[in-house]
Amino acid sequence: MTQHAHPGAAPAAEFFEAPARAEAAAGVADAFRRAHGGEPAGVWSAPGRVNLIGEHVDYTGGLCLPLALPHRTFVALRPRTDGVVRVRSVQADEGFEGPLHEVGPGSPQGWAAYVAGVPWAMWERGLAGSAVSGGFDAVVDGHVPLGSGLSSSAALECAVAVALGELAGLPLDDAGRAVLAGACVQAENEVAGAPTGGMDQAASLRCTEGGGILLDTRDDTVQQVPLDLAAAGLALLVMDTRAEHSHAGGEYGARRASVERACEVLGVPTLREVDPERLDEALARLGDDELRRRVRHVVTEIDRVRRAADLLRAGREREIAGLLDASHESLRSDYEVSCRELDLAVDTARASGALAARMTGGGFGGSAIALVEVDAVQPVARAVASAFAGVGLRAPQFLAALPSHGAARDL
Ligand code: GLA
Repeated sequence: MTQHAHPGAAPAAEFFEAPARAEAAAGVADAFRRAHGGEPAGVWSAPGRVNLIGEHVDYTGGLCLPLALPHRTFVALRPRTDGVVRVRSVQADEGFEGPLHEVGPGSPQGWAAYVAGVPWAMWERGLAGSAVSGGFDAVVDGHVPLGSGLSSSAALECAVAVALGELAGLPLDDAGRAVLAGACVQAENEVAGAPTGGMDQAASLRCTEGGGILLDTRDDTVQQVPLDLAAAGLALLVMDTRAEHSHAGGEYGARRASVERACEVLGVPTLREVDPERLDEALARLGDDELRRRVRHVVTEIDRVRRAADLLRAGREREIAGLLDASHESLRSDYEVSCRELDLAVDTARASGALAARMTGGGFGGSAIALVEVDAVQPVARAVASAFAGVGLRAPQFLAALPSHGAARDL
């Protein structure tokens, strides 16, 4: 007879902890010495992000409200003068070495695109300087879980961008960071070939500790929004389903294309221009049901972000719960970017005491978030782990989303 676990015994919930920053920075500096010899010019790091609300709206002028995670990607880097990039990763066996003039759309491939693509895009944008064009030696070390929808790729790009930006003497105030974020998006879109919007890079470069940012992708401005969940007795639990997603895949691009088609039919540059009060009139002008549902998601989601930001600014954190739940419903049924694992995490979190839950990021796998009472973090995580085990899914992992600060120098 098979041995069964005690009926009440839930599987342990595995938490993915961020390492202490100073140790991680010292570790990557050591890895640099071993790989390249001599000292790096410095160590910089940039965080992954989680989006509280405002999903699939950043490529059509919308509002989103992401925060930086304590989980960061580190880069130890030293400029060269011969235009060559040589980079190793603590996480990968294969390094990359090649001249910058061979970097461009589609080249290099794999993770190196997110490194070498950054100086290429900075150069393309006229952010010249020998620190950008001369190439560099580097070692990267990522502590943002890969494939989790928590922007490990943006963290990598932004760590490289802040390093090169500082070495090139570029301003690193918010305006300067917005410029670097633009270069990172270009590297991701053109070199890596992933047609993503700009939320992840803005979050990784422009967030500050203790809050999220209200990012307006129409004019690329950010406003800091306080997020003191602990003071309200709450926590934000990230549930990484470990169902891997990929934005280079067709579904993300297909959603973007639908939005662009809808803009053409409606005669607007972005869906931000559609007044939520007059949504029905706009929908009536769209021929097919699928397009109507896509537009309904975007327009209602932007409105939810506005309301969530107002509530947070008023210190009414608990009241965002309904908006988070509605966001998931809209992404699941109208935008159709959720999946079995995300729905299971969301439904189980809600059923086991979370105030609200929703998928976060691009979808089709990746992570969901739950707004929970501080003392419910463990029980909710265990319930989700147990639900996954119960249907034979790979064990999820969990992260605590404490709002952290954007890309910066460590050493
Ligand atoms: C991914 C993309 C972002 C954004 C989200 C969905 O994370 O990289 O630009 O579109 O999906 O909100």
